[in-house]
Amino acid sequence: MSETSQIVAGLVHELGNPLCAIGNYAHSLEDKVAPEHRAILQSMQREVARVQRMMESLGDYARPRDPGMLGADANVALRDAVRFLRDQGVFRNIILDEQLDTAALPVKATALELEQTFANLLLNAADAMPGGGTLGLFTKRVPRTTLTDGSVRRHGDASPPVVLRRDERIERWLVAHEMAQVVKIIVADSGPGIEPGSEDRIFEPFVTTKSPEHGTGLGLAIVRGIVNTMGGLVWVQRSREGGAAFHIVVPVFAADTAGSAPPR
Ligand SMILES: Nc1ncnc2c1ncn2[C@@H]1O[C@H](COP(=O)(O)OP(=O)(O)O)[C@@H](O)[C@H]1O
Ligand SMILES: [Mg+2]
Repeated sequence: MSETSQIVAGLVHELGNPLCAIGNYAHSLEDKVAPEHRAILQSMQREVARVQRMMESLGDYARPRDPGMLGADANVALRDAVRFLRDQGVFRNIILDEQLDTAALPVKATALELEQTFANLLLNAADAMPGGGTLGLFTKRVPRTTLTDGSVRRHGDASPPVVLRRDERIERWLVAHEMAQVVKIIVADSGPGIEPGSEDRIFEPFVTTKSPEHGTGLGLAIVRGIVNTMGGLVWVQRSREGGAAFHIVVPVFAADTAGSAPPR
């Protein structure tokens, strides 16, 4: 557990009780104050609940992990996250277009971390399509070389994405990571997409366009944090469906590739 994680976990723990108490005090005062002041106490409770939601996300993120649990399968976690959210009615009116690899996709993360990553992306996609739409899910295990020649595309895609800056980022990432095989994951929606110029900013903590009841702005910061610990790269670009497509590339977990040296 990193020092930062320890501090975050400690803070979440220490702040949890007093925060809960503040919420309870505000609640217990509601019927003791003049009716015109009740709204203030209710606002206090809403704000407390908002901070509690943020702390819950951070607490999940900072939870210590057992190295023996690394190597979870990206497809399994994605399916679990989809099933979990579908059972909650999150995908009502949304058509799922799944193109998942049949190969094993072990990555350097626990099942919980992967599910958290996917749940954040899937929830954002659902939020972006309140009136329904299409959610494309793509996973593929590929040799590292295919990442640069543009051959990692979903079927139906006419041409490789011509976003030069992203390609440079992939190049740099490939230089820094010696894996032979890469897991490529795309979560794409048909919503309005990301406002041009905000593609990097949305990954920063507390950046949100949602109302305080709906968004904490922590989802993508957590996604990026988890993808970083996997040694991966995440970015957003325009989806084939016209919305946002979140792309993740991560090395196939070493335990699975031992013996197969990366091509030189
Ligand atoms: N699939 C998407 N389509 C459009 N906008 C998105 C999508 N995913 C994320 N965003 C934008 O990025 C912002 C940050 O997302 P996130 O970090 O998950 O925080 P939150 O969902 O709490 O707002 C969102 O408020 C939204 O403006
Ligand atoms: Mg979110």
